[in-house]
Parts: sequence; structure tokens; C-alpha cells
Amino acid sequence: MTPHTPLRGCFVTGTDTEVGKTRISAALLHWLAQAGWRSAGFKPVAAGTSLIDGQWVNDDVRALRDASALAMSNAEVGPFQFETACAPHIAAARQGQRIDRAAILHAVDALAARAEVLVVEGVGGFCVPLGPDWDSADLAGDLQLPVVLVVGLRLGCINHALLTAEAVRARGLCLAGWVGNSVSPAMPWVEENVATLRLRLQLQGAPCLGIVPWLAEPSPAAVAAHLDPLVLTTLFSSISSPFAS
Ligand SMILES: Nc1ncnc2c1ncn2[C@@H]1O[C@H](COP(=O)(O)OP(=O)(O)OP(=O)(O)O)[C@@H](O)[C@H]1O
Ligand SMILES: [Mg+2]
Repeated sequence: MTPHTPLRGCFVTGTDTEVGKTRISAALLHWLAQAGWRSAGFKPVAAGTSLIDGQWVNDDVRALRDASALAMSNAEVGPFQFETACAPHIAAARQGQRIDRAAILHAVDALAARAEVLVVEGVGGFCVPLGPDWDSADLAGDLQLPVVLVVGLRLGCINHALLTAEAVRARGLCLAGWVGNSVSPAMPWVEENVATLRLRLQLQGAPCLGIVPWLAEPSPAAVAAHLDPLVLTTLFSSISSPFAS
């Protein structure tokens, strides 16, 4: 399955759940908006909602919506939001629902018609079941976007990053870059870990987009300040300049 029109932007995956995909996605949306692009976040599948301003909504959906340049409804950013914070296929089954692959592509097509660039946040790690016969890696394959890998800097992250890079390549997708994100205030041997990640992922053609420290307020602007504008410009260079007529 593929969307009707080729998409522009990136698909953000992570070495695991809770590694900073939403913080980095929001920072990318912010950076793109600051650069003049009509950026839009998309969270195709989200599990766990809370009542905000009288509406049940997922936190990631809200964060991506707030960081986007394009004005969108919660349902446009997150077409499949389930109540329970657990594995998405289980969250869907608890509500007697299934995650409809064609409906996701329809939703992303509708957004792509209005946005210049999309930042799509995956769910959990790269290979998360979304139904009996498909998973989030299949979804990334459907979208055909370059993949950005968020590496949660903790013990074990090198192995998780390299396994993910292999899985991305096995799907025929491009690993366009990676971000090291501090998931705790201090990680022992962080510089040595980052040096190894740089080397091993660069060998696979994936440059480092930035190393984000543990921040007291990880707002989109604060996180974006730790991303490399030159590497980001290259990553998004296939998208025509917002300043070109
Ligand atoms: N650099 C950072 N500094 C401080 N806190 C951070 C940082 N990165 C992430 N966090 C916090 O860690 C938690 C997990 O981050 P985030 O929600 O972005 O992860 P995720 O990978 O999107 O998780 P999920 O798999 O649930 O979508 C959040 O509370 C977030 O605010
Ligand atoms: Mg998230």
C-alpha cells in the first residue's frame, strides 16, 4: 500500500518506547516552521488518552499538533487514538476495533495535500504489531519517507540502534539520520557511547542530527537548539525552499 502522492518529510522511529521520539519530532516541526515551511505532525497510531479541555486526546498528538505550523484538529494529527496506554494492537482490541491501514494512508494523503512537509512519529520501537499481519515497519514502508532514528542514550542503546538500522535497511528504507537523546540526567560513558554510535551509524550513511542533553524544559525550541541546522538542511533538501517562488 502507498499514499496517492509521494510524501515529503521524515518518519521518526526510536530504539524503544519513551526514548524521546515526540520531543525530537516536535523539535523538527518547530525547526521546519521557523525555516518557513508549513510543517505538520502526524501520529498515525497512539495509545493512551486523557481528558483535556473536554476532549479525549493523546499527549503525543497534542504535542505534535502544537509544534506544527499547519493548523489541524486532533483527529487529523492522530486518526487512531486508543484509550489504554499499552501495545497499540492490544489497545485497539480492548475497544473492539482494529487499526485500518488504508484509513491511515487516506489520512496522511489528506494532510500532505495541505502541508509542505510531514513529520510522522512512529509508535514504540520500529517493529510494533499494528494488526495480525502487519506492523509499524510496514507502515514506514507504506509511507516511503526517510527514517530518523531517536537513540535513547542508556546502557544497551548501541545494540538497539544497530538492530534498528538493520531492520530499516531490510525494509528497503533510507536511514537518513539519528539523534542521541538523553533519557536521564547523567549516563555513564555517554561520550564514548556517542562516539561509537557516530562511527557505526555513519558507516551506514546515517549522520548524527544532534545530541540532546537532559533538559529541565524539553520544549520544541529548547530541543531544536541542539540539532545541527546544516545536517537538517541536507535532510530536508529534497523539499523545495519555502522562499522559492
Ligand atoms: N532531552 C530530554 N530532557 C528531558 N526530558 C526528556 C528529554 N527527552 C525526553 N524527555 C522526557 O522523557 C519522556 C519520554 O519522551 P517522549 O514522550 O518524547 O518519548 P517517546 O519515544 O515519544 O515515547 P512513546 O513511545 O510513548 O511515544 C517524556 O516525559 C519527555 O518529556
Ligand atoms: Mg511519543
